[in-house]
Amino acid sequence: MQKLSDALQRAQEQGVAIGHFNVSDLALLKAVFTAAQETNLPVIVGASEGERAFMGVSQIADLVKSLRDEYDFPVFLNADHTHSLAAAEAAAKAGFDSVVFDLSAKPFEENVRQTRQAVCSLKGINPSFLIEGEIGNIGTGSEIHDVMPDPSKGLTNPSEARQFVDETGVDILAPAVGNLHGMSLSMVRGESKQHLDIQRIAAIRKAAGVPLTLHGGSGTDDDDFRKAITAGITIIHINTELRVAWRRSLDDSLAGNPQEVVPYKILPPVVAAVSGVVRSRLRLFTSPALVTQGHGSNS
Ligand code: G3H
Ligand code: ZN
Repeated sequence: MQKLSDALQRAQEQGVAIGHFNVSDLALLKAVFTAAQETNLPVIVGASEGERAFMGVSQIADLVKSLRDEYDFPVFLNADHTHSLAAAEAAAKAGFDSVVFDLSAKPFEENVRQTRQAVCSLKGINPSFLIEGEIGNIGTGSEIHDVMPDPSKGLTNPSEARQFVDETGVDILAPAVGNLHGMSLSMVRGESKQHLDIQRIAAIRKAAGVPLTLHGGSGTDDDDFRKAITAGITIIHINTELRVAWRRSLDDSLAGNPQEVVPYKILPPVVAAVSGVVRSRLRLFTSPALVTQGHGSNS
């Protein structure tokens, strides 16, 4: 079975990005996997500390492993936004493929020191386990915000990115390039879009020399996504868009069937709605226009 590092290498060679979609329940997991199968594209399932607490660390690991094995399909599992070494180690031991070791709220030197220790310890548990580090401010919470904070506060600079990767040995870097977690009400209504600092992405990719992840993908302008991928983004995280689709479709399903109490009759429209969002994002991240261009600075 293909490893996540192989899938990342392949995506970089093709100049496309791999979609990462967070799940909190079985309906979301089914939706993500269905969309990946339909598009025949590798996919990363993400579970943050809160999402893992709800589903169970080994339970989500076993569910994803069963999909991977039964369908012989490249579906990977990431321990998203993990703030302690103990939680990262639990994910590595449970069979996750990667972790976002997120100490971005700490001072830079402390983030470097603890991330370096985490890389050492986690590779000792599983040498194939990939560690993503994070620097800069990309906000918190895949939720609906009245208004988004100012993305220009806490952007990642390329020289810090290089220093962070050199000193920690992370496999993947998550920078702040205009991206923020969550969506504003106007983004949910489709009246505004998130825009990215494309030149900064290209400069960070060149300086860092490792694959880059774009967090906070929900609400981003389609063209900015394409340009960001061409500039060097290899993984894109989407969560809030899925949660919005999950909530709206669940409301509709319940309202349309007021007497229904059977979960497996209420939930299929939810799976279909979320799956539609995942499918369209996966297609965008691998659109033919990108495939022909490739990344400029692969390593
Ligand atoms: O790690 C999760 C993501 O970065 C999702 O961000 O909710 O803005 O799509 P989002
Ligand atoms: Zn994130």
